[in-house]
Amino acid sequence: MPCTVIVGAFWGDEGKGKIISYLALKDEPDFCVRTGSVNAAHTVWLEGKRYALHMVPAAFVYDKCRLLIGAGANVHVAKFLEEVEATNVKNRIGIDQQASIIEEKHSIQDKSNAHLKGIGTTGWGVGPAIEERVRRTAKLARDIPELKPYLTDVALEVNDALDNGKSVILEGTQGFMLSLFHGTYPYVTGRDTSASAICSEAGVGPTRVDEVLIVFKSFMTRVGAGPMPGELTKEEAIKRGWFETAAGTGRDRRSAPFNFEIAKRAVKINGATQAALTKLDSVFPQSRGARNYEELPSEAKQFITEIEKQTGIPIVLIGTGPEALDIIDRRK
Ligand code: IMP
Ligand code: MG
Repeated sequence: MPCTVIVGAFWGDEGKGKIISYLALKDEPDFCVRTGSVNAAHTVWLEGKRYALHMVPAAFVYDKCRLLIGAGANVHVAKFLEEVEATNVKNRIGIDQQASIIEEKHSIQDKSNAHLKGIGTTGWGVGPAIEERVRRTAKLARDIPELKPYLTDVALEVNDALDNGKSVILEGTQGFMLSLFHGTYPYVTGRDTSASAICSEAGVGPTRVDEVLIVFKSFMTRVGAGPMPGELTKEEAIKRGWFETAAGTGRDRRSAPFNFEIAKRAVKINGATQAALTKLDSVFPQSRGARNYEELPSEAKQFITEIEKQTGIPIVLIGTGPEALDIIDRRK
């Protein structure tokens, strides 16, 4: 899989961090490019330690992977430097010189704007930072002295790498239903979150992509306001073991059963070629820790077969527990 795009199917928090960390350990990709901004937290469990990454690509777990932040991304300087330290990736991480900068004033704008509060923004200021970029008054990574050691041309690095047969993961953030263009507007984030947009933010043309891997969770969750078909009460969510709080903001996540119509639409519009399904053990507890498909209870297998039938793509990775390696890998 020389060039793989990872995209979330729902409202974020599908478990992209887990899937990317697994692929990093298993496939040892040469490059991983993160897109989006600090509002998205990707959770990675490694050797019993939990990382909630807002800036550093989730493939950091493979120590030879070159980590990059694309030109379309918005960089929170303090968070970036803090995470570089925590993950010890100083010598192998780069930021595109044209990535824009998200500042404290943007966060204040997010928090003081009643309309944005109504949407339930994460409060990091990503929307206001993007507004500033569109106005063409934004600071870019190349304007920040502390970022000098990290500056690079990400698009050029990645395309040269692909020319030389290297493998690349393009790390999407958030989920398709939060897309500014294709999601539940106005209850969306400030950018397009689709597979095409992930390529655009990284600077990779559509003909260079080999696989679009869409990440489903076995049930759906959403933080913030906006429609959610089949939403459960908090009590019901707790009873089913589906109640979660957000990795980034600590807010309650709303939850609902897996929705086939949403899944089909997401597969179609993202041009997904394969899927991952996380948290199978939250819906079918007997699946916990399984690493072979044969070990799964028959209801779990039926659920997987039904998703494959309805979406028309194979589920190649199945998450059965929190650790990066708690995965059933059905790839050849
Ligand atoms: P904003 O992107 O911070 O402006 O938030 C807009 C909406 O997207 C809110 O409903 C947020 O809860 C949601 N959102 C933004 N980023 C994420 C994420 O990474 N995971 C889940 N929800 C998110
Ligand atoms: Mg998240």
